[in-house]
Formats: sequence, structure tokens, C-alpha cells
Amino acid sequence: MKAILVTGGLGYIGSHTVVELQIAGFKAVIIDDLSNTRVEVLEGIEAITGERPDLEILDLKEKESVTEFFEKHKTIEGVIHFAASKAVGESVENPLLYYENNVGTLVYLLKECRDRGINNFIFSSSCTVYGQPDILPITENAPVKPALSPYGNTKQISEEILADLCAVSDLRSIALRYFNPIGAHDSAMIGELPLGIPQNLVPYITQTAAGIREELSVFGDDYPTPDGSCIRDYIHIQDLAKAHVTALQRLINLENKANFEIFNIGTGKGSSVLEVISTFEQATGMKLNYKIVDRRPGDVTEVYADTNLANSELGWKAERSMAEALRSAWEWEKKVRNL
Ligand code: UFG
Repeated sequence: MKAILVTGGLGYIGSHTVVELQIAGFKAVIIDDLSNTRVEVLEGIEAITGERPDLEILDLKEKESVTEFFEKHKTIEGVIHFAASKAVGESVENPLLYYENNVGTLVYLLKECRDRGINNFIFSSSCTVYGQPDILPITENAPVKPALSPYGNTKQISEEILADLCAVSDLRSIALRYFNPIGAHDSAMIGELPLGIPQNLVPYITQTAAGIREELSVFGDDYPTPDGSCIRDYIHIQDLAKAHVTALQRLINLENKANFEIFNIGTGKGSSVLEVISTFEQATGMKLNYKIVDRRPGDVTEVYADTNLANSELGWKAERSMAEALRSAWEWEKKVRNL
């Protein structure tokens, strides 16, 4: 059976994607360095699918280990590359770490793929490449704006590397530009495991509801939006995970229209921070403590996807609601905290 390498496969998006890959009949082989997750995630995956994926704990920066990995696993026919650092603030403080972790390792991985004739490559990109868009909803043709952080820049550079390589080789690649992934698997066997104080909205909300954080800070209510808070496109993690399987099948079945393709992966619907809070309260019956504070530097006002290309060309569509996603995030938080 041919196998798919999932780098960062024990992370938040990676683990949900491994589940969907297995359900679709693929064998998943994971590389993870455990820098931002726990090895127990493997048990969660196995509990859902009944199948334990292969795991190699290694750091993609160690080039020799990566080569050894491919020597050992000769049946890999595609790669889904998640492994990357993703904290915007940390990237500002330590840019070299981000360029090495996110760009350097991509180069090593692509060299191995080139040398071994592995031509199907899915890349984990981000709507961050659009910055504050001029036109909403954002299509894939919207200009890529100067990055606001080294993290954002690594995503832009990575897309350029892939485009350049696809132009001169047999590599076929799809970059998926994610909007805001939230929620957990329906089974509550896997979910997001932020270390320390969460930076993202939904884990902060669920930890506040669980009593771990006293109060959620809403970063600004004076934006030019209907209720003054920022607007994002929140997508259920299982919908996002399935998009990877669909994209991979497109490459394997040679259905791609160009060697490098880009798709927005969102719901197409924008929701404000205050709407997320009220939807969470309705969906879970919990009351959330929150206060309005100053804007967070670097936040864009409003971002949501035009998903027409993903719907028509990729044949993928988000199916789950934000309420479902928030309920699943809460079920997961309760499970993790034994509530
Ligand atoms: N927010 C709060 N309070 C919090 C956390 C977030 O009000 O405690 C607000 C933010 O201001 C923003 C919204 O909730 O308006 C969403 O914030 P997140 O941090 O959850 O998500 P972002 O849209 O800022 O971040 C996403 C991805 C990042 C990526 C970034 C680039 O999660 O990986 O977009 O813009 F880098």
C-alpha cells in the first residue's frame, strides 16, 4: 500500500488530516519533532480509526535524519507538509528560527522528493499572505501583500519556492491557504493542545469557560465592522482536514490543471469576535467572562474567503457550522480537563 508522509502529523491540523487520510484508505506515515504536541495524540488517532499510523520522531532540520527516513520508507507517494512554527509574535522576535524551521526544512524535504521522484506535495499555507485585502471576499487572485511578520513571510516564500520548482520539474503541488481553523474531532479524541497561554481566540474562549483563564480579552471594538470587533472566517477543523485529502487525490489522479495550484480553504462567511462569543454561549449553554481591551497590534480588520474555486475546481466545500465547531472545541476542552 502506498503511503503518504504527513510532517507535523501529531499537530492540530496534522492529526485531524491523518484521521481523514486513513478513513479515505491511505496509509499515513508521520514525522513529528513533538515540539508543539504530545505523543499521546497517536492514541487519539488510533481510537478514532482503529489504525495506528507509523511515527518517526525527528527534526526536519536534521538533514541526514530526513534522508534516512526516506531510505527506510520507500513507498511514500505523496507528502502533506504541516511541520512549521506558527507563533506570529515569536517570529518577530526570532526571525532566523522561523526562516530555518519553515523555509530551510521545506527545501530539504523538496530535495528528497525531487531525488526520489515523489511528485505529489500538499503545502500548508495561510490567508495571512493576503494581509488586509482590498476586496472581500478574498479570491486566490488577490495580491499577496508585504508580510506583516517573518511567520507570514515564510508562507509567502514557501509558496514561491514551490511555484519555482513546479515550473521546472515533475513536482505537482497544491498550497491550501487556510482561514481560521477551529474546533476538534467529533469524537473528542483529538483536538487543539496549545502550550501555555493560548494566542488564538477559540482555545482562549474554551479555557476561560473551563475556569483556567479568568476572562477573555476582546482585542478592540472600534474597528469599522458592524459590531466593532474583527471579522474572520472560522472553519471547522474536520472540514479543513478533508480538504487535504481532496487536494491529494486531485494530484494523485492527475486532475490538477497546473503543476502549482492554490486554493482558499474557508467557509466564505465572516464572523466577528463578538459573534463567536455569542455563538459559543448559545451552542454550549456556558456564560463567558469577557472584557473589551485595546486592539492587538498587527490584527487585520476583516478577512473571509471566496471559496468558489475550491468549491468548483477542487470539489470541496465546508459542511459544518461555526456552532458545531465551537461545541466540539468545548467538548474537547472538557475531555482534556476531566470536566
Ligand atoms: N482575539 C481576541 N482575543 C484573544 C485572541 C484573539 O479578541 O484572546 C481576536 C483577534 O483580535 C482576532 C480574532 O480574535 O480578531 C482571531 O484571532 P486569532 O489569534 O485566533 O487568529 P488570527 O486571525 O489572528 O490568526 C490567524 C492564524 C495565524 C496567522 C494569522 C495571520 O491563526 O496562524 O491568522 O493573520 F498567522
